[in-house]
Amino acid sequence: MRLLTLGTAAGGGVPQWNCACPGCAAARAEPALRRRHASIAVEAGGGRWYVVNATPDIGEQIEECAALHPGPGRRDTPVAGVILTDAELDHTLGVPRLREASGLRIVATGAVRAALSGGLRLDRVLAPYAGLSWTALPVRRPEALDGGPLEIQGIRISGKRPRYAADLEAEDDAWVVALRVRDRRDGKVLVYAPCLAGWPAGLDDALRDADCVFVDGTFWDDEEPRRAGFTERTATGMGHLPITGPGGTIDRLAALPAARRLYTHLNNTNRLVDPGDAGHRRLAAAGIEAAREGAVIEL
Ligand code: MLT
Ligand code: MN
Ligand code: ZN
Repeated sequence: MRLLTLGTAAGGGVPQWNCACPGCAAARAEPALRRRHASIAVEAGGGRWYVVNATPDIGEQIEECAALHPGPGRRDTPVAGVILTDAELDHTLGVPRLREASGLRIVATGAVRAALSGGLRLDRVLAPYAGLSWTALPVRRPEALDGGPLEIQGIRISGKRPRYAADLEAEDDAWVVALRVRDRRDGKVLVYAPCLAGWPAGLDDALRDADCVFVDGTFWDDEEPRRAGFTERTATGMGHLPITGPGGTIDRLAALPAARRLYTHLNNTNRLVDPGDAGHRRLAAAGIEAAREGAVIEL
């Protein structure tokens, strides 16, 4: 299986336009420290790629990866579509940026589709540009993606809704899922879980035989958002299990057999945005790493 790490930051990116925190200020001064919104691309056979979550940075993210560039025909693109793990704005605002397509394939749960159609009105807004064609992301059992070598499944994580979708009717409650991908060519398994409000038992099952896992690394510890002064809520209160401390995910990750264990969706307040921070040594000692921008991962 081939993956591209297109971005590794939580909503706002690093730097965030209205933030002068140390992480944002450092990234403003040193472009190598910048992080785009969290997203990966997965090769789905025959040189076709699916982008997992469509961020506000998707245009630049595609430009930075030669494998995603158009050609050989003037309007040929290797980007076959978008798979969504949730309907948060940082994972969906890239959909309208792709409106120059002749049509756009979106793979999502019923709840996420309801948010994009009923909440963001993207079906109506985009119809005169590029019609959206929807494929249900299977949550009960894996299914082949486009009849190709990848089997995909959404692992239910939580019913955490985006703030704009607080009152929306939806046909299911799979608001946030982890994406599990199995490549039938080599049996390799990827799990991409950028938004963890909790750690359901189904996630342990999905991770047991995974070769590569990307996990929500938004906050280093539960108090970080309050300490940073931008909210009264804790990390857990914001729907993100912290990396360390009570309820932290680091010990769970450390116990997994996966060869690659990565934190992604880092908030700009997270100490890990500083490459010299001792937190990286703590991760390394547990066999874990912070995901890097633009990395190519071959499983
Ligand atoms: C999240 O990851 O919790 C959301 O993207 C935050 C938001 O509402 O912007
Ligand atoms: Mn987010
Ligand atoms: Zn900041």
